[in-house]
Amino acid sequence: MFQLRCTVRNCSHVLELKNDGLRCEAGHHFDRPKGGYWNLLQPQDKKSLTPGDTQDAVLARHRWLERGYADGLIGALKPWMKLGPGGRAMDLGCGEGTFGPALFGDSPAGYCGIDLSKKAIRLAAKRWPEGTWVLANADRFLPAAESSVDCIVSLFGRRPVQEIARVLKPGGRCAVAVPGEEDLIQLREQVQQTGRRRSRWETVVEELEAAGLKFQQHQRWQTSVELAPDAIADALAMTYRAVRRSQNHRAEQLASMTVTLAADLILLHG
Ligand SMILES: C[S@@+](CC[C@H](N)C(=O)[O-])C[C@H]1O[C@@H](n2cnc3c(N)ncnc32)[C@H](O)[C@@H]1O
Ligand SMILES: [Zn+2]
Repeated sequence: MFQLRCTVRNCSHVLELKNDGLRCEAGHHFDRPKGGYWNLLQPQDKKSLTPGDTQDAVLARHRWLERGYADGLIGALKPWMKLGPGGRAMDLGCGEGTFGPALFGDSPAGYCGIDLSKKAIRLAAKRWPEGTWVLANADRFLPAAESSVDCIVSLFGRRPVQEIARVLKPGGRCAVAVPGEEDLIQLREQVQQTGRRRSRWETVVEELEAAGLKFQQHQRWQTSVELAPDAIADALAMTYRAVRRSQNHRAEQLASMTVTLAADLILLHG
C-alpha cells in the first residue's frame, strides 16, 4: 500500500501497518474502519468549513460517472499519468473513486486517494480495494513525506498549493482539471438564467507557479451530450455551483437537452 504519514499535528512520522491498524513511532494509532479505507481525520478537521461533498452530491456524481460521461476526459488525462516502478500518485478530493483505477489501474500500490466525504471514500474503497483510500482533510496536511510523490492529481478537487509543493518530487507531475468555460453552459443558462462563462485555469496555474511549480501544458477537453432529465438532475446535484431550491424546481421542468461538457486540463512539474 501507499506509505502514509501521521496526520497528528506536528508529527508526520511514517505509519506502519500493525494488527490491522496504523501506528507511528510516537504512538499515534489509527483504526481501519470497516469498508477498507483509513480514517486519518483529526478532531479539528471535523469542524472544517468545507466538510466535503454531501451524500446527495456524491451519489449524483457516482451515477453521472457510471453513465460514462467522463470517459473521454479519462482518455485525455491518461498520457500524463504514467507511474514508473515504485512511483506514487496522490489524488486530492478523489471523490467516489472512478478516476483512480481508470488512470492508475496498473499501479494500485502507488495510488492514494484522499477525500473528506465518508460516503465518497467508502464507495471508492469498495470499487477498488487494491488502492489506498484515506478519509482526511487535504487542505490541512497531505499524509506524505517531503519530495516523495511522483504525481499529484486534482480533478475538480482540492488544491492546497503549499502542501502540493512540499510533497511533490522535483520533476514530479501535478495534473489539475477544472471546469471549462462552456461546461454545462446550456443548463446554467436555463436554470440560473445567467450562464456566466468564466475561465479559471489561468488563475490555477498562477497559484501553483507562485508555490514553485513549473507550467508545462494546457489542453481543453470538450464534448457534447444529450442528457435525459435524470442525468440533468444529477448534473445539477453534483455540481460545485450551489443549486437553490427554486432552481431545482425549474430543473424538474426541463426536458432532455444537448449539453456541452468542458474541462481545462493543466500539467505542471515540481
Ligand atoms: C467536485 S468533487 C470531485 C471528485 C472527483 N475528483 C471527481 O472528479 O469525480 C470534489 C471532491 O472534493 C472533496 N473535498 C472537499 N473538501 C475536501 C477537503 N478539504 N479534503 C479532501 N477532500 C475534499 C469532496 O468531498 C468531493 O468528493
Ligand atoms: Zn504520529
